[in-house]
Amino acid sequence: MAVPESARAFVADLISRVRQSQNRWRIVFPEGNDERVVAAAGRLVRENVAQPLLVGKAPSNAPEGVQFFDPASSPLTRNYVSLYRERRRAKGITEFEAQEAVRKPEFFAALMVAAGDADGTVGGAVLSSREVLKAALQCIGPAKGTRLVSSVFVMAMPDPGAGHKGLMAFADGSVVIDPSAPELAEIAIATAESTRTLIGAEPVVALLSFSTKGSGRHKQVDKVSEALRIVKARVPELNIDGELQADAALVPEVAKLKALGSTVAGRANTLIFPDLNSANIGYKLVERLAGASAMGPFLQGLAKPANDLSRGCSSDDVFHTAVVTCLQCQQALSQRP
Ligand SMILES: CC(C)(COP(=O)(O)OP(=O)(O)OC[C@H]1O[C@@H](n2cnc3c(N)ncnc32)[C@H](O)[C@@H]1OP(=O)(O)O)[C@@H](O)C(=O)NCCC(=O)NCCS
Repeated sequence: MAVPESARAFVADLISRVRQSQNRWRIVFPEGNDERVVAAAGRLVRENVAQPLLVGKAPSNAPEGVQFFDPASSPLTRNYVSLYRERRRAKGITEFEAQEAVRKPEFFAALMVAAGDADGTVGGAVLSSREVLKAALQCIGPAKGTRLVSSVFVMAMPDPGAGHKGLMAFADGSVVIDPSAPELAEIAIATAESTRTLIGAEPVVALLSFSTKGSGRHKQVDKVSEALRIVKARVPELNIDGELQADAALVPEVAKLKALGSTVAGRANTLIFPDLNSANIGYKLVERLAGASAMGPFLQGLAKPANDLSRGCSSDDVFHTAVVTCLQCQQALSQRP
C-alpha cells in the first residue's frame, strides 16, 4: 500500500525539528549488532541528528562516530548493578540477580538512560516488546506526577483533512491491557501531550466508547465518563469530551445529531480507546482498511524516553523511532523546572 503523503510530511517535520535544536541527544540501542540498527546509527551520525550508542561487541567495521558498550567488559557495568539493586530494593534483588539482569542488553541500555549516561533508548528490533517494556519500567520508571506508562500511535491518514493535516494520535494500543477510570484519564492526559510534542497540534481529545453521551448504559460506559470527570478536574484547560462513539468523534454531521455543543465531537485529532483490545484492533483496522500508516507505538509517561520497535522493522523505522526519541528528550528538557 502506498505511504500517505501525511506520513512523509510528518517524518520530514520531525527530522527538521530535531536538527534545528542545539542538542545532539545520546540515544542507546540495546541491539548494537543488528545490521538495521547499525545502518540507522550510521545515518544518525551522517545526518547530524543524534549521537548513537550501541550495546554489544564493537565490530571491526563500526561506522564512524558510533560508540559501542559491551556489558561483559564495560567499566559502567559495576555501577549499573548497584543502580539496579537500588531501584529494585523493595523486591529484595540479590547481587547475583542484579548482575544477571544488567548483562541483558535491554537492561544495560535502560540503566544507561537512568544513570544519565544516555538520554534515551530504542530497542525491539530483535527483543520482544515485553522485554523492552519491562526494562524501561524497572530501570527508568514513570515520570514524576504520573504512575502509568502507556503508548501512542501516530496515524498518518491518506485524507489530509483528517485530524491535523492527516495526522491523528491513537492510544493506548500496546501497553495497558485493561485500564481503570483513573488510568484511562492518565492515558488521555499523556496522549494529549504527545499530540502536542509529536504532531505539533493542539489536542482535541475524544474518549471513545460504544455510547455517546449516555446513549448506552453499562459499567464500561461509566468507566469512560468517570475518566472524563477526572481529566476535567486535573486539566480543566484541555479540550476533551466523552463518552463518544467513533463516528460522533470524527464526523461533523453525526456530531451535530449525537453530541450537539461538544467542542470535540466531529473534530477530534486524539482518540482514546477504552482498553487495549479496542485500541489494538482499531489501529490495525484503520491501517489495513483505510490505508493509513501507523507510526509507533511511542511510549509516554516514562521519566526519560524509551521506545519499542517492531521486530519486522526496517533500518528507516529504527532511524525514525530514534528521531521521535530525540524529540521526546527535547520535550523533557523543556519541561524541567
Ligand atoms: C507492559 C507489561 C509487559 C508489564 O508487565 P509486568 O509483568 O507488570 O512487568 P514488570 O513486573 O517487569 O513491571 C515492573 C514494574 O512496573 C509496573 N508496571 C507495569 N505496567 C506498568 C505501566 N503501564 N505503568 C507503570 N508501571 C507499570 C509493575 O507493576 C512493576 O512494579 P513493581 O516493580 O513495583 O512491582 C504488561 O503490562 C504487558 O504485557 N502489556 C501488554 C503488552 C502487549 O502484549 N501488547 C500487545 C501489543 S504490542
